[in-house]
Amino acid sequence: MSVTLERKKVTVPALMAMKQRGEKIAALTAYDFLLANFLDEAGLDLVLVGDSVAMVFAGHETTLPITLEEIIYHTRAVRRGLKNALLVADLPFLSYQVSPEQAVLNAGRLLKEGGAEAVKLEGGSIMAETIRRLVQIGIPVIGHLGLTPQSINAFGGYALQAAHEASARRLLEEAVQLQEAGVFAIVLEKIPATVAREVTQVLKVPTIGIGAGPHCDGQILVTHDMLGLFEKFKPKFVRRFAEAGKLIREASAAYREEVKAGKFPTEQESY
Ligand code: KIV
Repeated sequence: MSVTLERKKVTVPALMAMKQRGEKIAALTAYDFLLANFLDEAGLDLVLVGDSVAMVFAGHETTLPITLEEIIYHTRAVRRGLKNALLVADLPFLSYQVSPEQAVLNAGRLLKEGGAEAVKLEGGSIMAETIRRLVQIGIPVIGHLGLTPQSINAFGGYALQAAHEASARRLLEEAVQLQEAGVFAIVLEKIPATVAREVTQVLKVPTIGIGAGPHCDGQILVTHDMLGLFEKFKPKFVRRFAEAGKLIREASAAYREEVKAGKFPTEQESY
């Protein structure tokens, strides 16, 4: 028996209300129309065009090289695939840190040209003024704390963040400042579950965890990680819900064999 869920468009206020109801937020990334459409049909609440596109789609070593133009291109494609999920696009490295004016122009392009409904940016209190400006002109913002991949060169690697009392306290303070600046949600990446639980309890806006344990108001993963498509490395927090990489390799090898053996195409597959 197949059950068709009656789904409503997820908006920013609707997403915030999920925290009040105690309903978990399910979020994933997408960079293209087809995958976005699958995620929407599966009932995901939020789809992020993450700057992780730099690594898992474009093959870069870090998220830093991806450009605003490229994120706009991917956001447009994802827009065409979504009906109900909230579409959020990442502001890539150096597209918002220079000044609030730069952030307004570039976040505005993600909405105007890409069709995003909100943007995500990395960083703590230093981003407060920028967030205020964006929110004032009607651009909803998600914050991102903990392991912020655009700062990989400063971190020197992908280590656990907020692992000590002082850094955990600082992260909590930064989260409160982001909330005061007007974010409607905060992504918490690779921090201890106890720290994420405290941040989640203190904040009114939802927390969306990635490697931040089970107490966040929602979870996000890179879709290519959770489908087993990106096999280069697998952090502990990634659960593979499929082995799509293996499936594609096997299907491609089977195709190759049949072509080489003259078994594809058959008469039935010919005109
Ligand atoms: O770029 C990205 O995909 C992200 C998420 C995984 C949170 O920032």
